[in-house]
Amino acid sequence: MRSPAEQFLIDFHATLPGATAEAFGTLPVQFRGQSFASSYAVLATAVPTDRSPLAVLDLACGSGFLLSLLAARRQPGLELIGVDMSADELRLAAADLDGQARLIEARAQHLPLAAQSIDTVVCHLALMLMGDADPVLAELRRVLKPGGTLAAVVGAPNPPSAAFDAYIRVINAHASGSFLRLGDARFRKEEGVRAMFAAQWHGLELDEIRSHRRLTPDETWAWFMRMYDIHQIGEDQRDEVRREYLSSVAAHCDADGRLEFPQAFRFVRAQTA
Ligand SMILES: C[S@@+](CC[C@H](N)C(=O)[O-])C[C@H]1O[C@@H](n2cnc3c(N)ncnc32)[C@H](O)[C@@H]1O
Repeated sequence: MRSPAEQFLIDFHATLPGATAEAFGTLPVQFRGQSFASSYAVLATAVPTDRSPLAVLDLACGSGFLLSLLAARRQPGLELIGVDMSADELRLAAADLDGQARLIEARAQHLPLAAQSIDTVVCHLALMLMGDADPVLAELRRVLKPGGTLAAVVGAPNPPSAAFDAYIRVINAHASGSFLRLGDARFRKEEGVRAMFAAQWHGLELDEIRSHRRLTPDETWAWFMRMYDIHQIGEDQRDEVRREYLSSVAAHCDADGRLEFPQAFRFVRAQTA
């Protein structure tokens, strides 16, 4: 049976399929002092270009943005597999990929894949959403070959900003007791991530990915509307939340009517024994 958090995610992705790729696919980021077109492009660097054959699983592939980036390489021997529990996201992925990846509707906790069949698992903005991460990490160790790589972009605490402070304050004021905290809280802190990978993974590397934009208040609101939290607030309250948020950030705009909008993500890499 699905947990309430999983049901929320299924419903969100049925209502707004492709929202994640729309939000993050064109968000330029900085990683190790270099500029990348998006956090998907950073994650794609974890897939070697010089190994063949190479079986790559995109775990929680959503609408297939990362798989499309990898397919565009036309790399000989690259086998692409995408798994997601949202049939609606997979429908978009299938239309985009046109047979260039094997797409499977499944939960990360029970992958219908053979043991030791995958060289690299990539996962963009999803691993931290999956309830208790331990069974998922165990399942990834099962399907990865010995010495295989897991590379994931996960959420990280954002640098302080008036926009995020105001958003969190307003959302919290409207959230009822049933507000779902999605995923495994250990992902929120670097020590938590280190603890999760300490015992059964090797060569853990953690890096920060950052983006920095200056947006109008309406643009920041449009961004939040593609994220999960606001969709936990009843539709009847969202106009009020929007008004409160916009009035709260108005004083923080510069002369050009824009706000600082910095964001941070974590890039996690580790190998199986
Ligand atoms: C924020 S979206 C990211 C989608 C895609 N990786 C991207 O970045 O475009 C999170 C995705 O994780 C999927 N997901 C969450 N928990 C899952 C689980 N336990 N098993 C499989 N998919 C899951 C959701 O269905 C959704 O497509």
